[in-house]
Amino acid sequence: MIKVAFFDAKKYDIESFERVKDENIGFTFFEVRLTIDTVALAQGFDAVCVFVNDDVNAEVIKVLHEYGIKAIFLRCAGFNNVDTKACFGKIHVYRVPAYSPYAVAEHAMSLLLTSNRRIHKAYIRTRDNNFSLEGLTGMDLYGKTVGVIGTGKIGRIFIDICRGFKMNVIAYDPFPMPNSDIHYVELDELFAQSDIISLHCPLSESTKNIINKDSIAKMKKGVFIVNTSRGGLVNSNDLLNAIKERKVGAACLDVYDEEANIFYNDKSSHILDDDVLRNLISMPNVIVTSHQAFLTHEALGNIADTTKKNIELHFSNQQNPDNEVCYHCYRKEQCAKKRNNKCF
Ligand code: NAI
Repeated sequence: MIKVAFFDAKKYDIESFERVKDENIGFTFFEVRLTIDTVALAQGFDAVCVFVNDDVNAEVIKVLHEYGIKAIFLRCAGFNNVDTKACFGKIHVYRVPAYSPYAVAEHAMSLLLTSNRRIHKAYIRTRDNNFSLEGLTGMDLYGKTVGVIGTGKIGRIFIDICRGFKMNVIAYDPFPMPNSDIHYVELDELFAQSDIISLHCPLSESTKNIINKDSIAKMKKGVFIVNTSRGGLVNSNDLLNAIKERKVGAACLDVYDEEANIFYNDKSSHILDDDVLRNLISMPNVIVTSHQAFLTHEALGNIADTTKKNIELHFSNQQNPDNEVCYHCYRKEQCAKKRNNKCF
């Protein structure tokens, strides 16, 4: 029996993973996130299964390695919260590269539509018998320019959705999709031309704080910013200032750089210590959802199925190059998978 310590387990995770477990794989569910304070729980297991806010840093990896943990199975696509360099040569890391790119792209558009047409305000007003339209004016999305940063699986679906609205789509990606009809531009041009900017790239050294005071300065007044990727892509302080200065017209945020101890938890009877998040949430033109873009029945089912397959392939010594990741992944020329189908 392969014993997997499952961290940051929520009710919906337990339901979907209980469905896929069998006599060969056993999951032990821990509600706590994996951090240096909780890593001791992994002792005696063969592998750990983690999500976006588990803190799998070098210190945690050292302990996991000492415990004989063979593999880390991410239940998500992004792997910025795992120090893959520290894992290299010691612990294999697998992810679920695509569980429902539709879920995330559709959520990005939901946020944009909600924010633009002030549905979040109208919903509250009509429940209070307030049928006034004051302050609810939006804009036609038809004909507006949307700049998509990152044209991978999610970005391309978001582009298709935008095209359905007859929006003008431009995009930036250092690895443009070959032979596509996507209109790629340089990043500065995207900043300058876009009425709406939607982020669909991973968080890496090159994308950290890609939205900051300098890039915002290059944008149109009133630009909408949609982030369903990773909080660290946006400098939240700079965003807040730009909203106060009326430079940014709206922000739709499913992710936040300091979300780890906040999102996924009911904090309704707590005082929120994070002033930047509190200020952002208080703005009428900011919508925050707590990293829920992935949360559809289809995605949860796919996450459980793919994770199970990742576990089975790893422990039966089979190759799984599409789902294994390491710190060379965004330096494609150094990728060892081309030679031996494994990261190391
Ligand atoms: P993907 O790997 O298919 O596509 C990422 C794209 O970003 C690639 O085309 C890559 O070339 C591009 N890219 C890399 N560096 C870039 C840079 N410096 N500037 C612009 N583009 C760059 O990934 P996928 O599945 O489309 O996911 C995108 C991101 O969405 C993930 O990295 C993850 O952070 C986030 N995500 C968020 C979820 C949520 O629930 N909010 C759920 C799933 C993913």
